Amino acid sequence: MMENIMKSSSTVSLDMFHICSKRERCFNSGTLVPFILTSLFVASILSFFLFYSPYPFSVLLNQYSNVVQNQQAQNQQDHLNLQPNHATSNSKSPQNEEEKSCDLSNGHWVPALRESSYYSNSSCRTIPDSKNCFKNGREDSDFLDWRWKPEKCELPSFDPRIFLHIVRGKKMGFIGDSVARNHMESLLCLLSQEESPKDVHKDSEDRFRTWYFPNYEFTLMILWSRFLIVGEERMVNGTGSSIFDLQLDKVDEDWAKPISSLDYAIISAGQWFFRVMYLHEHGKPVGCVYCREPNLTDYNVVFPIRKAFQTAFSFINGCNQCRNTVTLLRTFAPAHFENGLWNTGGYCNRTAPVTQEQVDFKSFDWELRNIQIEELERVKKEVKRKGQKFEVVDVTRAMLMRPDGHPGAYWGDKWMKGYNDCTHWCMPGPIDFWNELMLAVLERV
Ligand SMILES: *[C@@H]1O[C@H](CO)[C@@H](O)[C@H](O)[C@H]1NC(C)=O
Ligand SMILES: *[C@@H]1O[C@H](CO)[C@@H](O)[C@H](O)[C@H]1NC(C)=O
Ligand SMILES: *[C@@H]1O[C@H](CO)[C@@H](O)[C@H](O)[C@H]1NC(C)=O
Ligand SMILES: *[C@@H]1O[C@H](CO)[C@@H](O)[C@H](O)[C@H]1NC(C)=O
Repeated sequence: MMENIMKSSSTVSLDMFHICSKRERCFNSGTLVPFILTSLFVASILSFFLFYSPYPFSVLLNQYSNVVQNQQAQNQQDHLNLQPNHATSNSKSPQNEEEKSCDLSNGHWVPALRESSYYSNSSCRTIPDSKNCFKNGREDSDFLDWRWKPEKCELPSFDPRIFLHIVRGKKMGFIGDSVARNHMESLLCLLSQEESPKDVHKDSEDRFRTWYFPNYEFTLMILWSRFLIVGEERMVNGTGSSIFDLQLDKVDEDWAKPISSLDYAIISAGQWFFRVMYLHEHGKPVGCVYCREPNLTDYNVVFPIRKAFQTAFSFINGCNQCRNTVTLLRTFAPAHFENGLWNTGGYCNRTAPVTQEQVDFKSFDWELRNIQIEELERVKKEVKRKGQKFEVVDVTRAMLMRPDGHPGAYWGDKWMKGYNDCTHWCMPGPIDFWNELMLAVLERV
């Protein structure tokens, strides 16, 4: 278990910092957390050197030979996409079947031409400043010149018309933390190239936001939830302590109520769990994470994360007021702090992806993804209502290879110079791939 905690150190970072939305108290850390972070610091340096070999480029160069070939295939694919009934086609040709069963999450990044980035900071008006890396001074742009190539098929590029055609008249909600928001923001930019969305609702803290695409009668919203389950911060002398009480068996009503109106729910979580937490089930304490109290069982982060997904999925499955919601799990997206944590000088200034060989699949990030998949598979076997669907947008493997996709120093907060954001993702950037993948998944359900 200690090993797991150590491996998690690169993700601990998120804690209290980048996950905070603007108005949140970002520096409310109590005294316990820094203690734990320091004790993990050495481990994080060690694990960094295990994660990345010194020759990230050699394998990438070999891939150049595939470029021309892949680009041609891509063009063909794009062409296919534009055929009017592509999205509704039921043709059962063998090739189609093969495409449908191909594992889209298993692949590698291949060089792509620049035109493959879908929008710029001038063509999308809704890029949040903190993700607008070029505006904030990022100078390298080669990280845009890659696309995801599944081993056994092609991932079509994102076509906003096809997406909007599928979701016409529907409601889609992203449920999760600020990384979920980042995903929604990428989708908003991708779709806005086809139609300008209307900003129809925003709560006072800008955690719940709704956009509407009138031509397609499509509603897109973000529902803020740190843990998916009930998690309340302990207050000490009127300020947040960054210590949370989690109710493992209770869903967070902030999304559990509105979900009954959604046709598509995109669920994700993970980053907030790396902190001191007291765990409760049926109102009784069952243990804690990082608390080191003699009378409480000390759990690994894995335990509450597994419980949170179990509780969330089984709520959706049992929800009688819900429509035949299509629930998509967006798997854990790793942070990439190198040589430190967010508050100890960690940074992420790489300018190209790493290869699969350079990724440590024994890492905590990968374990979290596996747990999420396991819980998804479990609920799929227990689906109660016909029409109710659970699917996965499995981004973890691809994103483990993209330490170059984060804002790093270019996240634009004048007040916190010297800190890096290696958790969220630049826009445009590799996060746009999440929506290419999500579209491919939606076409299959
Ligand atoms: C867009 O990015 C360029 C750098 O590529 C920057 O000079 C410009 O200020 C940015 N514009 C906006 C509107 O963010
Ligand atoms: C809370 O306030 C009291 C009284 O001002 C002080 O004695 C105590 O140390 C404070 N606790 C913490 C954790 O800051
Ligand atoms: C564990 O011990 C602490 C103090 O040592 C106490 O405050 C807490 O209530 C105890 N928890 C349980 C579940 O007994
Ligand atoms: C990244 O930052 C580190 C520390 O500031 C520096 O030593 C290194 O040269 C930088 N790498 C690149 C590619 O800029």
